Amino acid sequence: MKVVENRNELNNTVADLRSSGRSIGFVPTMGALHEGHLSLIECSNRENDITIVSIFVNPTQFNDSEDYKRYPRIIQDDIKKLKRVKCDFLFTPSKDEMYPDEDKREFDFGNLESIMEGAHRPGHFRGVALIVSKLFEIVNPHRAYFGEKDFQQVAIINRLTKLLNLDIKIVSCPIMREKDGLAMSSRNMLLSTEQRDNVSIISETLFDSLQKKKILSIAETKEWVIRKINENPFLEVEYFEIVDSETLNSVNEWSQVVKITGCIAVQVGNIRLIDNIRFYS
Ligand code: PAJ
Repeated sequence: MKVVENRNELNNTVADLRSSGRSIGFVPTMGALHEGHLSLIECSNRENDITIVSIFVNPTQFNDSEDYKRYPRIIQDDIKKLKRVKCDFLFTPSKDEMYPDEDKREFDFGNLESIMEGAHRPGHFRGVALIVSKLFEIVNPHRAYFGEKDFQQVAIINRLTKLLNLDIKIVSCPIMREKDGLAMSSRNMLLSTEQRDNVSIISETLFDSLQKKKILSIAETKEWVIRKINENPFLEVEYFEIVDSETLNSVNEWSQVVKITGCIAVQVGNIRLIDNIRFYS
């Protein structure tokens, strides 16, 4: 695995690889890698000749500066993990490399900006779009891999590639979970032992809610999920929305569309976790 810090060096390397007919898969991350990240890399390895991973804790997507400061940065551990799976290039740019000047671009993501993560984390998706568009420009991949754990982010990236008219296939990969069901996340390592013992209620409740579909309306299911999680003193639901999996607009009746997803954000002390569940098979 070659570690590259310079954007021009990576861009030139990729140009050579592409011209020799090699397909390029790209997995952007913010590091503190876990099995969720590694599953994206494995997926890229299956579908491409070359896999490029980036690690960059992107300041513009943090709407909370404490969250940015606290975000785990463990590059040496990450490198060890990457050496265990096949990763051809690791791109670890500095802040100046990615943001030499202030990037003033704005994007129109329509409804996606005003719902769920868009509503609760102002500016977050603009920051994601800024960095992902820059990374796409540098890496110029054939395919890019994103996790369904960040369900709304996948929708944003799909819209971004359309807006910018990019010839990149966006591949979304399933959520990887811990043994007790908790969705893997770099932020999980920030939880105290006590908090960690309680957060499995989130996924447990989401899975139980699949059964409620038969007996409760959408409004009642939402209420049930929120109440059940909020009963735990360590957890506070920020939102739980039941949405059309394609448009991400709220649905009011189970019969309204076939593909329905439940999306949740929960505050655990000062740590914020998200998860989602499919109400279809
Ligand atoms: P990060 O949170 O590091 O996640 C990198 C990728 O890993 C994302 O596509 C995310 O959805 C995926 N991922 C995280 N947890 C996962 C899990 N449990 N199962 C499967 N995939 C999982 O998302 C970001 O970074 C940033 O916003 C980024 C796209 C890199 C832009 O800065």
